[in-house]
Amino acid sequence: MISAIVHSISKGFELVCADIAADKSISHRCAMFAVLAQGESKIENFLRAEDTLNTLKIVGHLGAEITDDGETITIRSRGIQETSEILDCGNSGTGMRLFCGLLSSAQGHFILTGDEYLKRRPMKRVTQPLRSIGAQLDGRQNGDLAPLSIRGASLRAFDYTSSVASAQVKSAMILAALRSDGVCTFREPELSRDHTERMLRGMGAHLEINGLETKIWPIKKPLSPLSIRVPADSSSAFFFAVAAAIVPGSSVLVEGVTLNPTRIEAFKVLERMGAKITYKLTDEKYEPIGSIRVEYAPLHAVLVEENIAWLIDELPALSIAMACANGKSIIKNAEELRVKESDRIRTVVDNLNLCGIETEEYQDGYEVTGGQLKTAYINSHGDHRVAMSFLIAGLRCGMEIEDIECINTSFPNFFEILSRITKVDI
Ligand code: S3P
Repeated sequence: MISAIVHSISKGFELVCADIAADKSISHRCAMFAVLAQGESKIENFLRAEDTLNTLKIVGHLGAEITDDGETITIRSRGIQETSEILDCGNSGTGMRLFCGLLSSAQGHFILTGDEYLKRRPMKRVTQPLRSIGAQLDGRQNGDLAPLSIRGASLRAFDYTSSVASAQVKSAMILAALRSDGVCTFREPELSRDHTERMLRGMGAHLEINGLETKIWPIKKPLSPLSIRVPADSSSAFFFAVAAAIVPGSSVLVEGVTLNPTRIEAFKVLERMGAKITYKLTDEKYEPIGSIRVEYAPLHAVLVEENIAWLIDELPALSIAMACANGKSIIKNAEELRVKESDRIRTVVDNLNLCGIETEEYQDGYEVTGGQLKTAYINSHGDHRVAMSFLIAGLRCGMEIEDIECINTSFPNFFEILSRITKVDI
């Protein structure tokens, strides 16, 4: 296992960053949705990280022709073909859950697997509703745990209300609906990120969205190909937003980032905590795209209990800002954190305690009392966002983080950017 030592900094920094890694959610979808199109999908700035490269490789195993000139990835679909390969999603829940939706209606038999962490994550949230419309999916614990096997089948139209606000569940069901036998309705308890709806509509699919309800019409012919430059990932950018927010005298400007409202809620919370944040819209294609500037200001405690699906991935990093804020911050309604790449309630709370920060754990969240962060030896538990969050905390006090390879799943140039503001030993 590789570890990294990050050194504290004694004065503020100014960072202008146009090379935050590309958006992971959108990159996964680009590769998968290209399979539903006729013609060549052209994808610039595809995220070249482990999770999304695994998805791209799977799309290749399923028969798509993929060429890559180093800048643009071109995908030409030849429908979905049965393969002798085991489809390895690596660490990615998004990969596995969306492929369940895509492959449930394909002709043939498919096996999806993943790494030791993914094989522990719940899949019933997609396998159960997919089975209820005719999909033939199975796995350990009655279809809850990977490896999963899928035999493509005819899918019935559905009217499904999900108990969890999850873009992965919604996307899997939308993909199934596109190849079902009638108009489908999907409802969720809170709006989750909406890249699938935006991108599929952009490709010509018929989806009607009414608040928390989405109606999906089956496709009669292949969709139009994608032509997209993937924006920077706002969740990755957020690590550097927190860096600027906790080091007096600092500012960061991230450019070319998605400003999709279902993705920038954590920036809004940081703003509520006192940081100075401005947003500038520069482009609109599939998604609103622009820049975000974050400037240091003393932080105060905050209560986070709404729009959780819009900031679930940023909560570990936000917890570092809470540890540096004045007062007791509270996160509630975030039980989903328990089934992410690690149990993030446990891993964040345990690691904050090691850093001398007072916390209290709830089943659906935690409290963080701001204080003096102390240098500690942190275990990432194989979770990329936990690793990056505590590396950012190290800007205040120095930190050693064990098991940092996981950062390659989403943000391969994280250390390169971090070393523009401090010294890092790996
Ligand atoms: C994702 C949705 C979110 C998020 C994950 C990516 C997606 O998960 O946490 O990192 O691309 O659809 P859920 O939809 O399960 O909450």
